[in-house]
Amino acid sequence: MAKLLIRGGTPLKGTVEISGAKNSALPIIVAACLAEGESILENIPHDIDVYTISMILRDLGAEIWLDRENRLHVVPDGLEGYQASYDLVRRMRASFYVTGLLLARLGKAEVPLPGGCALGSRPVDYHLKGFQALGARINIEHGFVKAETDQLVGSKIYINRSSVGTTINLMLAASRAKGTTILENAAKEPEVVDLAIYLNSMGARIRGAGTDVIRIDGVDSLRGTEYGIISDRIEAGTFIMACGITGGELVLANVVPEHLRSTILKCEEAGLEIEEGISTIQVRSKGRPLAVDLETAPYPGFPTDLQQPFAAMMSIADGTSIIRETIFDRFRYVDELRRMGADIRVDRDTAIIRGVAELTGAQVEVTDLRAGAALVLAALIAKGKTEISGVELVDRGYERLDAKLRQLGADIERIPDRQEDAFEECLTSSLLEIR
Ligand code: UD1
Repeated sequence: MAKLLIRGGTPLKGTVEISGAKNSALPIIVAACLAEGESILENIPHDIDVYTISMILRDLGAEIWLDRENRLHVVPDGLEGYQASYDLVRRMRASFYVTGLLLARLGKAEVPLPGGCALGSRPVDYHLKGFQALGARINIEHGFVKAETDQLVGSKIYINRSSVGTTINLMLAASRAKGTTILENAAKEPEVVDLAIYLNSMGARIRGAGTDVIRIDGVDSLRGTEYGIISDRIEAGTFIMACGITGGELVLANVVPEHLRSTILKCEEAGLEIEEGISTIQVRSKGRPLAVDLETAPYPGFPTDLQQPFAAMMSIADGTSIIRETIFDRFRYVDELRRMGADIRVDRDTAIIRGVAELTGAQVEVTDLRAGAALVLAALIAKGKTEISGVELVDRGYERLDAKLRQLGADIERIPDRQEDAFEECLTSSLLEIR
């Protein structure tokens, strides 16, 4: 496993460029494969999940490559395969988006069930019910979802728990279905809106994205186009909290402040001074963070993906904070934070965090992507050296987190792992074919 060695105690200072949103890039790269002709995608984040989805689609026959200006080209015209590779799909739950794509494009999909993960059981039952409502026949055989249809037909679908993944998968499938689909209780996340804007720019007819009712009038064909992906609100939130925990002063560039409304409010409540520009956010710490209570919720509520970094910041806060997690089972990182001296008690979906005056460096292990970000933040303020193993999980969703932090003054070093880094290098170099 690759490791990070961090010596804590340096306040972060400077400007950090926020990357494109991973959770937008993944469905948009898949959506590009619904069209005929080339799409050129800008502001693509260079993280492992983006490489993985690109390799899955290449394996099915799409041509995908990066050019010298860091733009991702997607030419789906040769996409004829309908069986997605287990080895790639098992790496990432969002790979399941290829089911919506393949049903809409080929009328047939065989995609491995994504299975459980470190966030507890994460079923895809809502996705499957939605596909069935659109007229697909679904069977689960040998760990694969086998879906087939002669023609997807629009339908009225209620989405349980306003699931982001289900909303996206059904938008992909319904955009080329016959007739109208209405998604009720749809997810309102900015990444859903970004996907709708991109699909519409390809000729789709989608209304209402960003509200809880989305109407999709199916069209016969879509054409490739150029598109710039929104910036990553979760990466931006992580840097705001990194600033808060280290007592620093940062400017975040390439951000959409409106997408961070609940995060900014909670961080202000924790004592940070935050000033919003059109595409920038300035953050200044006024000293030790104040304790704040919060509850995660679907957008525009406080994002579950920032619960762990926020908890890391609260672990050194002045006072006791209570954090309730309503979306996933996401407290496994707490044991690792405790090894660094944090005082956290978990009672089912709630963490009670008594802020301590000081964390101390320790050997810790990343349990999942956002938990990894929490450990990195804690290490940035811990006394002495922290050794974080399992950093590949952080690379799944953050573009060069260690390099960006180093540029802001952090004392952080990466110790590579030959096997995992070889996998990453192989993904990157094969995408970086310059045409
Ligand atoms: C997406 C994001 C993830 C974020 C999450 C919630 C991507 C690639 N991932 O994940 O970063 O943390 O939204 O904002 O965009 N559920 C079911 N059955 C289903 C689908 C979902 O029970 O078929 C449950 C989940 O277990 C969870 C809740 O519904 O408790 C919401 O999950 P969902 O919004 O679907 O999350 P993802 O799309 O997987």
